[in-house]
Amino acid sequence: MARKIAAGNWKMNGTGAALAELKAIAEATRDSAAEVLICPPATLVHAAATTMSGANVAIGGQDCHAVTSGAHTGDVSAEMLKDAGASAVIVGHSERRTDHGETDITVRAKTEAAQNTGLLAVVCIGETLDEREAGDTLKVVGTQLAGSLPNSITDENTVVAYEPVWAIGTGKVPTLEQIGEVHDFLRAELVARFGADIGNAIPLLYGGSVKPSNAAEIFAVSNVDGALVGGASLKAADFGPIVAALSQA
Ligand code: 13P
Repeated sequence: MARKIAAGNWKMNGTGAALAELKAIAEATRDSAAEVLICPPATLVHAAATTMSGANVAIGGQDCHAVTSGAHTGDVSAEMLKDAGASAVIVGHSERRTDHGETDITVRAKTEAAQNTGLLAVVCIGETLDEREAGDTLKVVGTQLAGSLPNSITDENTVVAYEPVWAIGTGKVPTLEQIGEVHDFLRAELVARFGADIGNAIPLLYGGSVKPSNAAEIFAVSNVDGALVGGASLKAADFGPIVAALSQA
């Protein structure tokens, strides 16, 4: 059985004032049986980690470069995130794949960088609407999964997030059957590649328009071990009930 994780991706939202909301999230999720992770923008990682020291909320980055340091203007390395207090990093989010042309090869290198640095990698995959309508969903996510994960991962250092691109920020959510079909497929692929012990223990998160109103039914789907939440992770009033639903699942 994989452990449960509720992760929030704040994307490009939040200035110092958002630290008050982070404290409210820590308060609202204090008794959670699930792990809680918030990934604020890079500018807030250090302050967020300091604010959350001793709290139940881990802090992560939203991306890292594949190398430790060098001439890469504007980028942040896994080591820098760790130094700032992060314990995790999202890699391969569809917005990075689209906005910055990241490929599975890039994502795999970033996952390796996270692993070498001791950060938990939250590796994102997911199909576009065109790919789903063409009947290619399992082929696409299978290829992304195979290409984005190095051979050396374990359930301790890697989480996979299935985020259908068409469900992100749109309020559109796949049916529970569609989520279950993909998660069961991903689980089988992980077991086939990494063996039953590791493959069954890698947490599989669902992401895309998760809200307090749909969280419990999504967490009841087989092989859904948690969520990667965008918009609804910005407010304790929304994220708190999502974490509570996962705790009770
Ligand atoms: P929303 O929850 O806003 O749809 O975003 C999902 C997401 O992209 C999390 O990484």
